[in-house]
Amino acid sequence: MNQLGMSLVVLVFMCHGIGTLSDNGVLVLDYYQESCPIVEEIVQRQVEIAALKDPRMAASLLRLHFHDCFVMGCDASVLLDNYGGITSEKQAAPNVNSLRGFEVIDGIKYLLEEACPDAVSCSDILAIAARDAVALRGGPRWNVYLGRRDSLKADFKGANQFIPAPNSSLGTLIANFRQQGLDTRDLVALSGSHTMGKARCLSFRQRVYTEDYEENNNGHHRNTIFRRILSSICPKSGRDGALAPLDLKTPARFDNHYFLNIIEGNGLLISDNVLVTQDFEGEIREHVFAYASDQEYFFDSFGTSMIKMGNINVLTGNQGEIRSNCRFVNS
Ligand code: HEM
Ligand SMILES: *[C@@H]1O[C@H](CO)[C@@H](O)[C@H](O)[C@H]1NC(C)=O
Repeated sequence: MNQLGMSLVVLVFMCHGIGTLSDNGVLVLDYYQESCPIVEEIVQRQVEIAALKDPRMAASLLRLHFHDCFVMGCDASVLLDNYGGITSEKQAAPNVNSLRGFEVIDGIKYLLEEACPDAVSCSDILAIAARDAVALRGGPRWNVYLGRRDSLKADFKGANQFIPAPNSSLGTLIANFRQQGLDTRDLVALSGSHTMGKARCLSFRQRVYTEDYEENNNGHHRNTIFRRILSSICPKSGRDGALAPLDLKTPARFDNHYFLNIIEGNGLLISDNVLVTQDFEGEIREHVFAYASDQEYFFDSFGTSMIKMGNINVLTGNQGEIRSNCRFVNS
């Protein structure tokens, strides 16, 4: 083979390589093999300890990664406190009085700085912790691609704009996920996260007291028991912080019960129920039924979609930094 032929082969091979890489972006599995081989062990152990102390923490850590990735990408911007020129995303509407787990991440970061100083990014900690939290509750365990770096800023406005509201219509949810490079299958699979954790009255009040979401063809209201339970937790006004489980049936387990719930009209949030009630594109409900009838299929899809979400706008190479304290940029 002449030189040109050879370089063509190499070129084709490389393009193919880039094609496969793009599934996982520029992140790699063994990023810390040299600099911090113990990282996954430390994170997993701390997630276990945190969830033993507070069972809800598994859900909270999963959500933290989501709220990080949807705002400027998975760059730990969500962890920054108000300081210097930074307006923290923690104060934004979807996060304030709601997002939790920051102390757990601080604790993990502290141990990692002892074990391997300046090596592991806060954004990678979030990605590993989310995976371990799901696995700990009986969910799938996917490989976490690593090598993210941490942002030098936060995006308060972005947090209000890009994290979907609990009363979003299906069209809004689809558009919102598409904006992040995620498709309808990702939307449905990732919504399955609501198989664990809790929501505040403030987040589901509209769902309990707005009629049109649950009228059947005869105009009769379904799920009156479900509504009665919820209205006893969440009055028409007041008690904004009162909690209800997102998955009424198996609140502590990561399983596919979420999908069975929403098929029965028993999703806690409006954004959960619209996956079944507003399926104008035809394919959404199909995913819901497929996940409801096949947990393994849901688990596979969930892992795939989490890897996709974990790749959103990551900072790599010499972009950003490795923060030494997740709450502040390095001075
Ligand atoms: C599809 C659009 C989504 C909407 C509208 C939404 C909305 C919400 C809301 C309103 C809450 C309750 C917050 C509160 O009242 O304090 C919540 C909780 C939660 N969300 Fe979502 N979410 C969505 C997608 C996701 C995704 C993609 C994930 C993870 C990948 C996720 C994971 C969670 C978890 C685990 C909780 C429980 C957190 C805890 O108990 O601390 N959600 N979500
Ligand atoms: C969603 O809730 C917000 C605030 O509670 C409200 O301003 C908005 O109109 C609601 N949107 C829909 C589509 O109901």
